[in-house]
Amino acid sequence: MDNPYASKRPDQRLAVVIGAGGMGAAVVRRLSHAYRVLVADIDAERAKTLARELTDEGGDVEPVACDVTTTTSVDSLARAVADAGGFRVLAHVAGLSPAAENFQQILRVNLTGPALVTRALLPHATAGAAAILVSSLAGHGFTPAPAVAPLLTEPHDERTAERIEAETPPENRSGALAYQISKYGLLSLCRREVGAWGEHGARIVSLSPGLIATPMGAIEFEHSPTKRDLLTRTPLGRQGTMLEIADAVEFLASDRASFISGTDLLVDGGLAGTLIPTP
Ligand SMILES: NC(=O)c1ccc[n+]([C@@H]2O[C@H](COP(=O)([O-])OP(=O)(O)OC[C@H]3O[C@@H](n4cnc5c(N)ncnc54)[C@H](O)[C@@H]3O)[C@@H](O)[C@H]2O)c1
Repeated sequence: MDNPYASKRPDQRLAVVIGAGGMGAAVVRRLSHAYRVLVADIDAERAKTLARELTDEGGDVEPVACDVTTTTSVDSLARAVADAGGFRVLAHVAGLSPAAENFQQILRVNLTGPALVTRALLPHATAGAAAILVSSLAGHGFTPAPAVAPLLTEPHDERTAERIEAETPPENRSGALAYQISKYGLLSLCRREVGAWGEHGARIVSLSPGLIATPMGAIEFEHSPTKRDLLTRTPLGRQGTMLEIADAVEFLASDRASFISGTDLLVDGGLAGTLIPTP
């Protein structure tokens, strides 16, 4: 039942958050302190439940159902954003983990999705807007196969995931590889789109979490000895928290980050420093 005491906040700027999962919910909760929020997820019930909870806490949070992998769904999200007067912050948090094991679907959700969303929403960016795309440490220190690299320059193309799969030998088609390719592709997307966003007076950045304690992350721990090894190699000796990701998103979205664009912020407790050899 709707909260009869809820109040709308037309005085606040709009933040659009894609993903109402673990990390997405933490980001929505944080941004709802200073923005009205539109939260989009393919799981309409999850978005609704989150919006209801945060409305009860005094936020102005609206849910919207959106499948980021389909143009029609993303276009209707863009219309909702236009109707709401444009956005100041876009945080694309939704993503499938390597455990999803569907090679093409991981690429579609983690790469085609953010490409379609950023392209459809850019015309509705208000002055000083910022887009923050959640990538991963997994996209760092990785080089895609020579046949795959050129395909990553067309992340908006709905056939790209299929083409990447076709260029990957069947024995290599793991969820882990699709995840690395998708997150590497997202880092590249952010650098490639920086000019277009600049023309609108807007910024685009990626954020790469290392090991973060989330329900999704916990499932990966059960399935992956590599992940347990990565934890022991994290210089700060622990996983990060979703609150620490929300801190970083809040900063990147804010005017204090007003000259930061086209780059990536690693939030990994120093893990990249131990994994990726320095030149
Ligand atoms: N947890 C970690 O350690 C870690 C590390 C690095 C990066 N990440 C990244 O953080 C992000 C969020 O992780 P999380 O733990 O919140 O994940 P989660 O699984 O809790 O939430 C992901 C959300 O994405 C939604 N989603 C899936 N497919 C979608 C689609 N087609 N369209 C719209 N929404 C869709 C799901 O319904 C879900 O609500 C992901 O991009 C993940 O790759 C996580």
